[in-house]
Amino acid sequence: MGYLLTLDQGTTSSRAMVFDAEGRVRGVAQREYVQHYPRPGWVEHDPQDILATQFDCARQVLADTGVTAAELAGIGITNQRETSLLWERASGRALAPAIVWQDRRTAAACERLRAQGLAPLVRERTGLELDPYFSATKLAWLLDHVPGARARAEAGELAFGTVDSWLVWHLTGGRLHVTDCSNASRTLLYDIHRGDWDAELCAALGIPPALLPHVVDSIGVCGETDPAVLGAAVPIAGIAGDQQAATFGQACFAPGMAKNTYGTGCFLVMNTGSRPVTSSHRLLTTVGWRGRGLVAYALEGSIFMGGAIVQWLRDGLGLIRSAAEIEALAASVPDSGGVVLVPAFTGLGAPWWDAYARGTLIGLTRGSTAAHVARAALEAIALQTVDLVEAMKGDGAAPLTELRVDGGAAANDLLMQIQADLLGVPVVRSRMLETTALGAACMAGLGVGMWSGTDELTARWQAERRFEPAQPAARCEALRARWHRAVERSRGWAEE
Ligand code: G3P
Repeated sequence: MGYLLTLDQGTTSSRAMVFDAEGRVRGVAQREYVQHYPRPGWVEHDPQDILATQFDCARQVLADTGVTAAELAGIGITNQRETSLLWERASGRALAPAIVWQDRRTAAACERLRAQGLAPLVRERTGLELDPYFSATKLAWLLDHVPGARARAEAGELAFGTVDSWLVWHLTGGRLHVTDCSNASRTLLYDIHRGDWDAELCAALGIPPALLPHVVDSIGVCGETDPAVLGAAVPIAGIAGDQQAATFGQACFAPGMAKNTYGTGCFLVMNTGSRPVTSSHRLLTTVGWRGRGLVAYALEGSIFMGGAIVQWLRDGLGLIRSAAEIEALAASVPDSGGVVLVPAFTGLGAPWWDAYARGTLIGLTRGSTAAHVARAALEAIALQTVDLVEAMKGDGAAPLTELRVDGGAAANDLLMQIQADLLGVPVVRSRMLETTALGAACMAGLGVGMWSGTDELTARWQAERRFEPAQPAARCEALRARWHRAVERSRGWAEE
């Protein structure tokens, strides 16, 4: 009974990992799946793809490691957040494609709600912005566009969930309709102070409460899998949104500790302790985790395009053949030659929250080359992160002494050095880059009592490399000023 299985359902791939009782990785299985872009600004996933790739990975990693489901002490689930699904309770069948967190189709709906004066109430109760990023307006869109859905929802025939709920529903053969508090805190419907769904917000956003899952702790056993799925009943012992799980996996347990994950997007999360801190600089206040005596809230800066910029250079522009090539290409020039890329492909998140901003490549001259664009792309990832750290400072956070980093693009040494230079703060890469999956495993390990507490996890955390700032502050200031001029030019574009 000494193993933990984590299901890490991300935006572009599903992953499953087996950890042993010492928190060591025993095996990994990963499957990418298709992204659907049916219209400009829309992003969808096939709910069956999510299930099939995730469950295949789980079975695959068990087969590869020779660990049986009966030997699993627990399962930890972590997931892309906000992505919204609607399904039929009787059959478990999804009624429409999942609307992905990056999808902007509800920008006009958000604007109407803002015009009605709803934004202050949303911010006060949920800690969020009225932006299409979050779940509720996506769900309302589904209810209004799937024939008969609203009436069936009122009648209690349908279920809504973020990806964690969708997975748990199918892991338990439809017996459990739950979400954890960290995922709930991304819906626009959850009062983060009372820790419950908010009837007033449900009414204002047109969401029948009968659709909503029961909210459970992130850490602790909430149910067991149906033996038919993995071959034995396994306790589901930890659930968290992927950024909260990564913060846990980075052992950011003390208030003021922060991590940045360079995944599809970039998500900077700072632990603020057991009380929510309200941002006056348009950062999000969010639930970190809850359970087994632990409670953490966090301030979060969410950037929609991080590592995905590199993917776009590869797949959209064909500038590189593999993501790893960007480092050498960008390093072949000393700077971007004045080129700035504002990656507002799906609007801008924190601190701008502009659903109508669009990608902008500016400062091109006859001397500009692919290398300059590659360098501008890495700078864009780092400059967006600097804006978030500055916003946190503006909110009164103590200056960072270091930034812990993880995620696929954190493997890029040049990017990490640019990040340290532009922040003026050391950037520390953890030995374990799969901190999201590790965090979910840790939550499950604590949830089943396999591990005693966070001290044990802190003791196990190790740095792999530390990047010290090496550029003069004046140069960084000049880059930031130029970046902000470019950001201004990208804003409001899709409205025209
Ligand atoms: O809020 C969206 C975030 O949870 C997605 O994370 O790692 O799939 O880019 P990732």
